[in-house]
Amino acid sequence: MKVTVGVSGGVAAYKAAELVRALQQQALDVHVAMTQAAQQFVRPLTFAALTGHRVITGLWDSDGATPNAASSIEHIAEAQSCDALLIAPATADILAKMAHGIADDFLTTMYLATAAPVIVAPAMNVQMWEHPATQTNIATLQARGVRLVPPESGYLACGMTGSGRLAESDPIVRAVLEALHRRHDLAQETVLVTAGGTREPIDPVRYIGNRSSGKMGYALAEAARQRGARVLLISAPTQLQPPAGCEMIPVMTADEMRAAVLHHLSQATLVIKAAAVADFRPRIQADQKIKRSGPLTLELEPTQDILAEVVQRRNPGTLVIGFAAETNQPLKHGRGKLERKGADAIVLNDVSREGIGFESDRNAVTFLTPSTAIDLPEMSKRALADRILDEALMLRHPRNVLSEVAANAATSHTPAHRH
Ligand SMILES: Cc1cc2nc3c(=O)[nH]c(=O)nc-3n(C[C@H](O)[C@H](O)[C@H](O)COP(=O)(O)O)c2cc1C
Repeated sequence: MKVTVGVSGGVAAYKAAELVRALQQQALDVHVAMTQAAQQFVRPLTFAALTGHRVITGLWDSDGATPNAASSIEHIAEAQSCDALLIAPATADILAKMAHGIADDFLTTMYLATAAPVIVAPAMNVQMWEHPATQTNIATLQARGVRLVPPESGYLACGMTGSGRLAESDPIVRAVLEALHRRHDLAQETVLVTAGGTREPIDPVRYIGNRSSGKMGYALAEAARQRGARVLLISAPTQLQPPAGCEMIPVMTADEMRAAVLHHLSQATLVIKAAAVADFRPRIQADQKIKRSGPLTLELEPTQDILAEVVQRRNPGTLVIGFAAETNQPLKHGRGKLERKGADAIVLNDVSREGIGFESDRNAVTFLTPSTAIDLPEMSKRALADRILDEALMLRHPRNVLSEVAANAATSHTPAHRH
């Protein structure tokens, strides 16, 4: 999918380079158009090198007599060919022009000419941002369907502190993906995702934890949300920002995780248990910090098996997908878990493999069902999340082999191997 990034002339123009990279990581084809003022801050060459595409720098050729070289009416061609237009950073000036329909340069003309979703990420001095003129322009644009990624608060280039700093790349990328509605096939679903690694207290300051970062679960929650689902994200502690639009339910221990999952289970049409839940917890928790005094023996007791309980208590038709992290004979143990628990599928993680899994941003898994084992090769966890959701949906609506091949070709560069 093609996204045109419009860079306007503020100090934050340099941040657009990072943003372009972040969008490319979502497998988007990114093109850049810059206002004249933006070119005072960053050279077009930066974006040409990053994108591999010519950067659009104006409506006219340098002789001022002919339209720009690549196409006879380039702003129309660009407006029609892009799937989304992102203006970041958006100056007070460009917001004002957009709100009033002024079309005196490439970007503002393209904005009027496009039917694609438009996203603006403003950046400016706090007083410029808070000025009633700017706020009225923003309200006008939002009323017309322009999506706003609001600026953040902090120290600004002008030396003042307040709202006006360009939002981080993450929320801007999320807004673009949401605008693209890459797929909206989960609009009827309520997806309950568990994520993170639970903590079982030993005393008030120590706990037994595990190496789960929560990245896979959060990626699943984000993917499901972007595909239109209502998402309940039951999360043990992580270092991650909750994905936009998900309903967060924070928990700490395996017991709390169990209570939260069972409490929300009746709402879910799809349950994905990506959390690493402790299998054991200390039988007794000390009230006070345990002092160092020679060897210490901790007696552990098993926690309750949430996956098995979810399978038993789910509504008819609710799909349940578990995760299994295995270090030896993964296929054998994964299959054993699938059969014992009665889940619809198990996502099998061979955590002995280097460079993927736990803290990594990438992973490779096997999607195990009672009758198939589908290898999903190494890719980003975000891309994998979409593939796992694809496979989950297929459990509900099995499609024939021919349409499956077509869908794989359309949605992925990394084919799944079925065996
Ligand atoms: C050093 C400098 C920094 C500026 N930073 C910003 C800014 O962060 N945000 C903003 O809205 N305008 C900023 N401006 C003002 C814009 O550059 C000016 O309004 C310009 O006309 C915007 O043109 P454009 O919207 O076509 O890119 C800055 C101007 C200068 C000289």
